[in-house]
Amino acid sequence: MNAASVYVFDAYGTLFDVHAAIGRHRAAAGPDADRFSEIWRTKQLEYAWTLTLAGCYADFWTLTERALDHAFDRVPSVPRALRRGLLDAYLRLDAYADVRAALTELKGRSGFSIAILSNGSPRMLDAAVEASGIAALCDAVLSVDAVRMYKPRPEVYALVTGRFGITPDEAVFVSSNRWDVMGAAAFGFRPIWINRSQMPEEYADLAPERIVRDLTAVPTLTL
Ligand code: 2OP
Repeated sequence: MNAASVYVFDAYGTLFDVHAAIGRHRAAAGPDADRFSEIWRTKQLEYAWTLTLAGCYADFWTLTERALDHAFDRVPSVPRALRRGLLDAYLRLDAYADVRAALTELKGRSGFSIAILSNGSPRMLDAAVEASGIAALCDAVLSVDAVRMYKPRPEVYALVTGRFGITPDEAVFVSSNRWDVMGAAAFGFRPIWINRSQMPEEYADLAPERIVRDLTAVPTLTL
């Protein structure tokens, strides 16, 4: 096993809180706000998986808009007048409180590169990285758009090995999405699962090397 040289972070759900958009409009969204936000996220991911399985592609912003419209259809109590505001909020999601300190600590250690690898379109990722003030901490922000297919296709994870000229086992892959950890493990990365919402373990044959509750411990883990 080679020593790790690159730390790769998933974006949505790991660095950026996908439910922060509804959080900014919670009062106007009403009592079904959380269910609405869950449907929005679930459909956004489902569209990415199903299109990829079908050999088709539309960028993640388009899927985010389509999933939002589906959520409005499913939860009519949430006013459609919020559409523009929710999309604007999604472009500039809040980073989780633990992000900046963890990336700063990793960046302070010589020899490590830091990258983001995400389903997000380049425009979405640029906006979120800029809004959260972490641009200077990232050596590369890689979007699936370059290969026009979504995680967990191996071609997506190969964007990292290609960009840094490394073998998969030289990358630590950090994600809160267990299915993304599965894909990273299958590719040969060394995955850490950030189990932010205390979910039960899945995909037992493609397991993470470590499971932690948030990003705070990531810089101190020895892999
Ligand atoms: C991401 O690629 C899966 O949403 C997640 O950023």
